Amino acid sequence: PEEKAELKARIKRLLKEREAVLVAHYYVDADLQDLAEETGGCVSDSLEMARFGRDHPAKTLVVAGVKFMGETAKILSPEKTILMPDLDATCSLDLGCPVDEFSAFCDAHPDRVVVVYANTSAAVKARADWMVTSSIGLKIVEHLHAQGKKILWAPDKHLGSYIQKQTGADMLLWQGSCLVHDEFKAVELELLKREHPQAKVLVHPESPAAVVALADAIGSTSQLIHAAQTMDAPEFIVATDNGILHKMKAAAPGKIFIDAPTAGNAATCKSCAHCPWMAMNALQNLADVLETGKNEVHVDPEIGRKATVCIDRMLDFAA
Ligand code: 13P
Ligand code: SF4
Repeated sequence: PEEKAELKARIKRLLKEREAVLVAHYYVDADLQDLAEETGGCVSDSLEMARFGRDHPAKTLVVAGVKFMGETAKILSPEKTILMPDLDATCSLDLGCPVDEFSAFCDAHPDRVVVVYANTSAAVKARADWMVTSSIGLKIVEHLHAQGKKILWAPDKHLGSYIQKQTGADMLLWQGSCLVHDEFKAVELELLKREHPQAKVLVHPESPAAVVALADAIGSTSQLIHAAQTMDAPEFIVATDNGILHKMKAAAPGKIFIDAPTAGNAATCKSCAHCPWMAMNALQNLADVLETGKNEVHVDPEIGRKATVCIDRMLDFAA
C-alpha cells in the first residue's frame, strides 16, 4: 500500500486537477479532516457542509461523510459532480425510515407539518415540508410551534423528544435512532462524572433522554466543539462519535477529553462510539475516486427538485 504521505500528496494534486473540493464531516478519519482544511475545503457539521457545498464554485464536490450528505450536496447543486469515497456509507436513521412507510405515516396525518432530520433519503426529503439538522432543529420547531403548527417528526426519536420537551410543541415521532448515540449509557455516565467532578458533559441530542439529562451542553457537532472551546472547565466527557475528538482537542488545547461510556464495561466496547459508515471513508478510497471519477452520487432530478424545497427553507431560515 502507498505510504500515507504519498497518498495525501496524490489527493492534493488530484483535487487541483479536477477542480474539486473536499467537504468532510467531523466523524471521518482525522487525516481526511486535515486534508479538507489544508486544501480549502471544509470540515464541519451537516448544516455547514450543505451550505459550503452549495456556495462553493468548484465543479466537483467530494463528500467525505455518509450518503445523505452526498445526496443533499447533489440536490442543492445538481450541476456539480458529487463524489463519495464509498457509496455504501449510509446511516441507521436513513435505513430505518423507508420512503413508502414514511409516506403512509404522512398520509395518515395530513394535519401535521412534516419536519425531517437531514439524516434521511432524498425521497423522504421530497415528502417533507422542512428539513432540519441538529444545529437548527430546535429553533425551527420553536418557530413552527409559535405559529400553532402540529408537527410530524422523523426519523430520530431521541432528537425529536428532546426538541419536543424544550419547545412544548405537539410532535408525533417516528421511532428511529442512531446506532452510535443510542449506545450511550446514563448510569455509567453518572459514575464517570463522580470520578471526574470537574468535568463538564457534552452531549449530541441523538443520545437517549437520560444521557441528555446529564449534559452541561447539548448541540450539533460544531456546537459541541464550540462549547469545549468556550466553557471554563479543565475536562470534558464527550457523548458523540469519537471522531470529533480530533477537532475538539485542536480547538481547545490543554483541555482533557474523555469518551462517554457506551456499555456496562466501557473497556469492552472501545469502538462503540464510532460510526461504522463514517469509518468507510479513508485516504485510499478518496484517492481512488478522484483518480477514476467513480462513485458519483445521483439523485433522480424530479425527487431532487421536490427535496430542494425543504432544504432551502432551512437554509433561508438559517441565513
Ligand atoms: P451534526 O454534525 O449536524 O451534528 O450531525 C451529526 C450526525 O448525525 C452526522 O452523522
Ligand atoms: Fe447516522 Fe449515527 Fe452514523 Fe451519524 S453517527 S451517520 S446519525 S449512524
